[in-house]
Amino acid sequence: MTKRLAVLVSGTGSLLEAMIAQHLSISLVLADRPCRGIEIAQRAGIPFVVIDRSLFRDMTGFHRETFTGVVAKSLKYHEIDVVAMAGFMTILSDEIFTDHGFAGCFMNSHPSLLPSFKGETAVKDALEFGVKVTGTTIHIATSKLDEGPILAQEAVRVEEGDTVDTLWERIKEKERILYPQVIRSYWGIA
Ligand code: GRF
Repeated sequence: MTKRLAVLVSGTGSLLEAMIAQHLSISLVLADRPCRGIEIAQRAGIPFVVIDRSLFRDMTGFHRETFTGVVAKSLKYHEIDVVAMAGFMTILSDEIFTDHGFAGCFMNSHPSLLPSFKGETAVKDALEFGVKVTGTTIHIATSKLDEGPILAQEAVRVEEGDTVDTLWERIKEKERILYPQVIRSYWGIA
């Protein structure tokens, strides 16, 4: 039976848009905040859910485990087997892999050649470090941020005068092609 895929988004959703344009079969789009990614899902007629992370914050801070539990419940309710993170900006707690049964079932696309430049500011960090080549890495997500088995990588040259925006956009151009391909081949999704 073909696996049911969820795509997790927080922002622009241009990777999601590319997946849809390439007719990747997506069963659910889940966002941690209202964002353009949700509008894209709505327009494409894909079921979507917003689990607003701001509702999981109080004076003691962000309740990551509770948020993660709600995400897991929603994925299970929609009978999701595998998950592709596409610019999802909340780090889920370890329980997603240890307690909720999703170990090995989350894929991530990161805008650097891992293990270099982990984290949210990967493109900026690479640019500031002065590397001449950076790129994208598609990997299985684990409880350690931007770690886990690497499935594919593609290099992007840093050009003279590049800004974070211009460089990131060229990285995304690669991601928009590579990510759907890897999801299809690794998970056998139509
Ligand atoms: C991508 O560069 C991805 O690698 C990173 O977030 C970006 C998402 O872009 N994790 P978009 O929101 O799909 O345009």
